[in-house]
Amino acid sequence: MYNFMLNLHSYLRWAVVIIGVIAVLMAWAGVFSRARWTPQQLLTGRLATIAFDTQALVGVLLYAWLSPITTGAFRDMGAAMKDAGVRFYVAEHSLIMIVAAVLIHIGALRARKKDSPLQAAIFYTLAMAGVLALTPWGRG
Ligand code: HEM
Repeated sequence: MYNFMLNLHSYLRWAVVIIGVIAVLMAWAGVFSRARWTPQQLLTGRLATIAFDTQALVGVLLYAWLSPITTGAFRDMGAAMKDAGVRFYVAEHSLIMIVAAVLIHIGALRARKKDSPLQAAIFYTLAMAGVLALTPWGRG
């Protein structure tokens, strides 16, 4: 189960990154062209929220139950925080990715309710900066 979910989490990163980057580019294209928000831009935002939610759900399952790294760390959080490799998953990666998922949702909501490409572009960009910075590229 652990291996399956870890592999799933590893593959889903590409969905998150590819759809997220497309959402950022389309949002900024909307800002600079000053055109109205198109159905394609709305759809990309919605797909990005789905990709992030699915990835975050798998991440939380790994975090809380399956990963030996995080569940092992819960036994001695003091020691875990002193180990940069463990702290990355227990704190930095997980926290920033959840914040990124929230930002994607805010961006998609702003785009839908206020027809505001600029706000969507800013929220999507912040979210993707977090994802690109805190994804463990060397693994999986
Ligand atoms: C939403 C964007 C996210 C991306 C792009 C992402 C990406 C990744 C990647 C590429 C790995 C390494 C996989 C491997 O070693 O094969 C990983 C590991 C991990 N992620 Fe995420 N992740 C995301 C969100 C989350 C969230 C929200 C949580 C938890 C709240 C989380 C918890 C973990 C944990 C615990 C591991 C380590 C599992 C282990 O090696 O035992 N991730 N993540």
